[in-house]
Amino acid sequence: MQNVTTGEEKNIVLEQQDRRLQEQLQKIRHKIMVMSGKGGVGKSSIAVNLAIGLSLQDFMVGLLDVDLHGPSIPKMLNMRRERLPRRPDGRIGAIVYSPNLKFLSIEPLLPSDDSAVIWRGPLKISAIRQFVADIDWGKLDYLIIDAPPGTGDEPLTVAKTIPDAYALLVTTPQEVSLIDVRKSYNFCKKVKMRVLGLVENMSGFICPHCGKEVDLFKRGGGQRLAEDLGIRFLGRVPVDPRVVLAGDAGKPVIAAYPESKTAEALEEVVRNVVAATEELYRDVEEGRYMRVAIPVDGPVVSSNLDSADLFALYDVEKGQVLVKDVAKLPQNTSLDVWLKEQVVTHVLTTTLSETLQKQLESLGIRVVSGIPEKIKSDMALQDFLAGIVK
Ligand SMILES: Nc1ncnc2c1ncn2[C@@H]1O[C@H](COP(=O)(O)OP(=O)(O)O)[C@@H](O)[C@H]1O
Ligand SMILES: [Mg+2]
Repeated sequence: MQNVTTGEEKNIVLEQQDRRLQEQLQKIRHKIMVMSGKGGVGKSSIAVNLAIGLSLQDFMVGLLDVDLHGPSIPKMLNMRRERLPRRPDGRIGAIVYSPNLKFLSIEPLLPSDDSAVIWRGPLKISAIRQFVADIDWGKLDYLIIDAPPGTGDEPLTVAKTIPDAYALLVTTPQEVSLIDVRKSYNFCKKVKMRVLGLVENMSGFICPHCGKEVDLFKRGGGQRLAEDLGIRFLGRVPVDPRVVLAGDAGKPVIAAYPESKTAEALEEVVRNVVAATEELYRDVEEGRYMRVAIPVDGPVVSSNLDSADLFALYDVEKGQVLVKDVAKLPQNTSLDVWLKEQVVTHVLTTTLSETLQKQLESLGIRVVSGIPEKIKSDMALQDFLAGIVK
């Protein structure tokens, strides 16, 4: 194979990857990133049980482990030795766990089990992009993404690469952990990721002898915090030694002990996740949640979308503007791909070429043209929200 060296060729390669990325993402109805401020709160355990729980309800599920330093999903599924399947068409698929569940982590891509890889930021970004663009996941109802703790390169890359992913925050009842949730929540606000809700893990203890629940740490803090933040509370999962045993044995508790209280609690989380994702999805479908982009020249609407490089972006929920932002189209980036990356749902413009209109519509972005030139973008938005322009 020829080496790609020149800047221009590199851009072409990246642009092709962008297209594949968009094509793949369009085939996935819901994307959920499981995150927390701290390690050890049970993100991976929640992610894997959620993925299995959804697959047992006949959803098609993908589970992507973006923890590049310490992937834990292959071990939790007892599939550490598996290699990636190559399809007859030459594309590489994710590893098949069951007919409804596929997964991927960095592990099968590394030369040996204990190879220590030093990941610099840009390498992480490119690995995570490839996980989505270059792996054929097929059509999925859910892609669950297990992120390492904190708000570093990995969650940031997921937010940028999979802009319509929702965040599922995991916490434990201890105070420190609840403070960490606020950090994750603020991160989501900053990168404009919608928050699906909060799970309180290790909340109460199921006594192995009598089967009754014992309060280990004070619990209930998660629910109060969710209320404070105005996000959904998706459920609480008790401390149960079987979570560790089942995780180590490669059969997550929701499948290994389906009759247990813990499995019941996880199933409740699964049900709440299904309801919440559908609600967030419908908010977009039915226009209750919009991100509107308007090409601008200073404060006023610029004349043509094709040549625009500055945009006012508005987050609108139920007719109210939540956030206004101004963003510049980066150089050498195609407008349609960038708007999709910004999770733009609507574009208001004076004019645009037919080609661009088709491109945007094929990405599911609605285009409203005929906005009067040189009016303030805030006014254009108000007219649109009031139904004056359609
Ligand atoms: N509800 C639970 N009850 C008992 N142990 C748990 C529970 N949730 C997670 N664990 C255990 O805690 C440890 C950390 O969990 P893990 O899912 O790897 O956390 P994270 O991904 O946030 O670092 C693991 O050994 C796991 O088996
Ligand atoms: Mg983990």
